[in-house]
Amino acid sequence: MSNPFRNDFPLLNSTFHDKPLVYLDNAATSQKPESVIKAMENYYRNQNANPYRGLYQLSVEATDAYEEARNITAEFIHAESPREIIFTRNTTEALNLIAYSYGRPVLKAGDEIVLSISEHHSNIIPWQQAAKEKGAVLSYIYLDKNGNIPEEEIENKITEHTKIVTIAHVSNVLGTIQPIEKMIQKAHSVGAVVIVDAAQGIPHYPVDVKKWDVDFLVFSGHKMLAPMGIGVLYGKEALLNNMPPFFTGGEMIEYVYEQEATFAPLPNKFEAGTPNVGGAVGLAEAIKYINQAGYDNIQKIEEELTDYALKELAEIPEVTLYGETIGSKNRCGVISFNVEGVHPHDTASILDADGIAIRAGHHCAQPLMKYMDVPATCRISLYLYNTKEDIDIFIRSLKKVRRWLGDGN
Ligand SMILES: Cc1ncc(COP(=O)(O)O)c(C=O)c1O
Repeated sequence: MSNPFRNDFPLLNSTFHDKPLVYLDNAATSQKPESVIKAMENYYRNQNANPYRGLYQLSVEATDAYEEARNITAEFIHAESPREIIFTRNTTEALNLIAYSYGRPVLKAGDEIVLSISEHHSNIIPWQQAAKEKGAVLSYIYLDKNGNIPEEEIENKITEHTKIVTIAHVSNVLGTIQPIEKMIQKAHSVGAVVIVDAAQGIPHYPVDVKKWDVDFLVFSGHKMLAPMGIGVLYGKEALLNNMPPFFTGGEMIEYVYEQEATFAPLPNKFEAGTPNVGGAVGLAEAIKYINQAGYDNIQKIEEELTDYALKELAEIPEVTLYGETIGSKNRCGVISFNVEGVHPHDTASILDADGIAIRAGHHCAQPLMKYMDVPATCRISLYLYNTKEDIDIFIRSLKKVRRWLGDGN
């Protein structure tokens, strides 16, 4: 069956090493549809000016484009108000903002920050730094053998000492979908605040911050069809209002005196300096694309391909698969594996020669690698434009790897 979305993505029609591109590194970043590229081009051709500052028409248009992107983003995740949407560069910046402006002021010695062992480094290191400064500790939730968070871990680790729970909706290594609603309920029952890292979730699954009752939620545009350099921090308005600014300078002020300053209301208080208007325009267009494609359709394509890829991989005796098994509803199309006797970097290089882009390494999740007792894995990650043919080409090439480099025959 032909894929209804593939032709919208110009880069997918490229060749690499004289072979058609097979792009299987979507958890790192997604490709961009023509509509997003055109929307950004249109912005730079017809609307570009510094927003907020100018009293001339072009600046007003740039401001309108930026604020419209904020409205579209707020609606997309069901935020109560666009004031709850802060544009950042990416997930990493959004998590740092929360660790500085929410974490540091509330944390005291002995407090606990609960997170899972499968978090991306960007959801570990900001908390390590905050914890060191304030005498708080990081308390890790460990996974079962398939990468799921067991219920007892939620019950045992989230306690009256917990002040912050910070958790990825979907693991960027194992593709596991974590029980965030259960964790939010438990965290709120002990008075803790919850941050959801939706970087790997929101490209594939709808987000409803009100239904989840999540306190903060962060994601990157570039993993969901938008350009790099635009990310989102959602925060409940009451929390954001009580937090001090993270970056300071132009645009985030109300009045500045020689020794003092007062700050602008939300969202500008957290958006110091000239913002990425072109990026926000691209993000808004990416959201329109996802809405039009429909999460149901995206999931259907990805589920079929994930099951197919898992089945094909499981038939290669030298391949070890990590994470949830075939047919599980608890996983998405992020698949980690290793080929016996072959370093993951070598596997990725051989596949590259066939025009196939996969990721190999620790995936910015070294604590998880140590927990799984593997130095690195290969990872393929799927998105709405991938096809069965992509998987077939990948599997054919993978079978060569063992023949060329493995210690078997
Ligand atoms: C789960 C998760 N969180 C955070 C990040 C960091 O995203 P960014 O590099 O866009 O800040 C990533 C990137 O791979 C991720 O997979």
